[in-house]
Amino acid sequence: MISIGIIGGSGYTGKKLIQFCNSHPFISDYKVYGNKTSGQFLSELFPELVGQMTDSQIESVDNISNSHDLYFIALPHGEALKYVPSLIKNDKKVIDLGGDYRLDSKSEYEKWYNIQHSSAELLNNKIYGLADYYGTQYSNYNLVANPGCYPTATLLGILPLMAGFGDEIFSVSTSAYSGTSGAGKTPKQELMMSEMDGNVSAYNVNKHRHQPEILQMLKKFGFDSPFSFTTHLLPVAVGIYATTSVHLKNSIDEQTIKNYYKLFYENSNFVRLREVPPQLSWVVNTNYCDINISVKEKVVIITSAIDNLIKGASGQAFQNMNKLFGWDENLGLKLQGAKNVSMY
Ligand SMILES: NC(=O)c1ccc[n+]([C@@H]2O[C@H](COP(=O)([O-])OP(=O)(O)OC[C@H]3O[C@@H](n4cnc5c(N)ncnc54)[C@H](OP(=O)(O)O)[C@@H]3O)[C@@H](O)[C@H]2O)c1
Repeated sequence: MISIGIIGGSGYTGKKLIQFCNSHPFISDYKVYGNKTSGQFLSELFPELVGQMTDSQIESVDNISNSHDLYFIALPHGEALKYVPSLIKNDKKVIDLGGDYRLDSKSEYEKWYNIQHSSAELLNNKIYGLADYYGTQYSNYNLVANPGCYPTATLLGILPLMAGFGDEIFSVSTSAYSGTSGAGKTPKQELMMSEMDGNVSAYNVNKHRHQPEILQMLKKFGFDSPFSFTTHLLPVAVGIYATTSVHLKNSIDEQTIKNYYKLFYENSNFVRLREVPPQLSWVVNTNYCDINISVKEKVVIITSAIDNLIKGASGQAFQNMNKLFGWDENLGLKLQGAKNVSMY
């Protein structure tokens, strides 16, 4: 049994972490640390969870106990830098849901996040926890950089194609769409109902911080071709939908590509290959990533959908925790005995 500290547990992803803690068989206790909410009871902040969680008072991030075995960090970017180095030094396991340890390069982090990285030595001492990509456990690591929500949806969709047919790829272009919870709980004018209802727009064009994160992973496959990534806000609260268009140098038969995807994900517990483009509603409130592939001559269209707060954050973080401790990765996330169903 382990004890959990959730630093930043009073936010959107924190609430999901609390829910998963309550359904995990090997978690003995958990403590939530917050900023403005410190002193409040969880039952005041999340009345919908009364009866489904152990109630306790939120502790200040200034009083983090050293007694936990694993710490989830769900803070705004830049804030994790204050806590991660000393936790790692004290031999604790850490899963950071933010972006502070995802990029491998200090200079790339500083360019995209505009913050000086004060523990760059850890950047190459972590695992980038794209859980469904790694079949193995992570017992050699203490620090997991949990991937961003857009990169999770995009990379799970494209990586099999990169792995199997990388030499044939001429260019990659992703248009991705997010619900408003992707921006956290801090109120912002552009996220108000009166601005969002019936509305869609692109944002952070050519400057979204998830772009270098995706590219970093593609480069590990030798990818050095044109890549574009455009993010949009959708008038829904939850979900990420990514449509990736890949132009090939030569035509590849659709069934050949689909067979490769099936092989790639045959042991995956949380990727469902679909016969038709997924709908967002199929994945909301689940830890699944649903993917469809369509090939016509030299063009491959990959559609993928996730719940940004679960597969794109806290659900994947729990998969990563299970892998860190060498447990079944389904624990806390899926009914025992439920099997993955590959649709092709
Ligand atoms: N939302 C998503 O879909 C999503 C997906 C993937 C990754 N992430 C990443 O996960 C992290 C958390 O996201 P979220 O959506 O849960 O954010 P959120 O709803 O805004 O919650 C932020 C949390 O951080 C605390 N906090 C805020 N400012 C702080 C400060 N200066 N010092 C200490 N604590 C502070 C808040 O505490 P109080 O409430 O007590 O003030 C709250 O617990 C972010 O790095 C985000 O990029 C989010």
